[in-house]
Amino acid sequence: MEKSHLNSKRKKLSIIGAGAVGTSVAQWAFARNIADEIVIFDIIEGLPQGKALDLSQSSPLWNANCKVIGTNDYDLTSDSDVIVITAGLARKPGMTRDDLLQKNLEIIKGVAIEVSKRSPQSKIIVVTNPIDAMVYVTYKTSGFPRNRIIGMAGVLDSARYRTLIAKKLNVSPKDVTALVIGIHGDHMLPLVRLASVGGVPLSELLSKEEIDDIIHKTQHGGAEIVSLLKTGSAFITPGLASVEMAEAILNDQKRIMPCAVYLEGEFGVNGIFLGAPVILGAEGVERIIEFKLTDEEKTALSNSVKAVKNQIAATGLDG
Ligand code: LAC
Repeated sequence: MEKSHLNSKRKKLSIIGAGAVGTSVAQWAFARNIADEIVIFDIIEGLPQGKALDLSQSSPLWNANCKVIGTNDYDLTSDSDVIVITAGLARKPGMTRDDLLQKNLEIIKGVAIEVSKRSPQSKIIVVTNPIDAMVYVTYKTSGFPRNRIIGMAGVLDSARYRTLIAKKLNVSPKDVTALVIGIHGDHMLPLVRLASVGGVPLSELLSKEEIDDIIHKTQHGGAEIVSLLKTGSAFITPGLASVEMAEAILNDQKRIMPCAVYLEGEFGVNGIFLGAPVILGAEGVERIIEFKLTDEEKTALSNSVKAVKNQIAATGLDG
């Protein structure tokens, strides 16, 4: 009885914020058919409704048939399985992710209160920048356990890292395995030791100078796009990265992805969110995959930790 009820339940994904990233999340989620119902929420009247209508009219062309609703009413997000928070301002040229912190802090607090009370069992993926601080604000404000609050960043940063490696070697990005951990910011750690191409260590295939250049480009990949777009930041790959995470949770895929996760001693770090590889399944973060870092990696990670702690101190929610 209980089981058939569960099986018949429609999987619901809500996206908060109908800007460029929120729209990208909705579009990829729809195309990949990861939920039965997608709700797009925004405070701007007409915006989410228009986007939802536009998206729903692509049904015959995608061959996707999921219900899409656009709304300014939080009640319609009730009982979501997964919520992706993209609300807030995006970076403009010359702005760091930290400049955004104060602007987005109040927005995220409000969103976290509204969505957590209507979907108390949901898993929340936070995309709003600065991600490592905004995911912390969502965690503190919602009171949800740490397995149900996850920051999107590592999947995006690792995709950039893998793309750059593949381009340099002229091989398929599919065969590049590489991981970025730490902050979503200049101090992120594209790990060289664990990067491989068709199973061959990256360090065997490229010189140190070539690898350093790829690392630099990965760390500044977001800023490069901001300076080109001039009116906002990347949205296509951030949207897809969020959908990869949402899909892993909705379909209990047990995928391993680098995500911003609340650390309680893992990697020697306590009380902050930081990018680390995790298993994503129906419970959200089902396990943090901890591994030994070299001394050099530990030093680099400590720079990430310092930067995230500064952001968290600026939220006024620390301790
Ligand atoms: C980026 C923004 C989303 O990295 O932080 O593109």
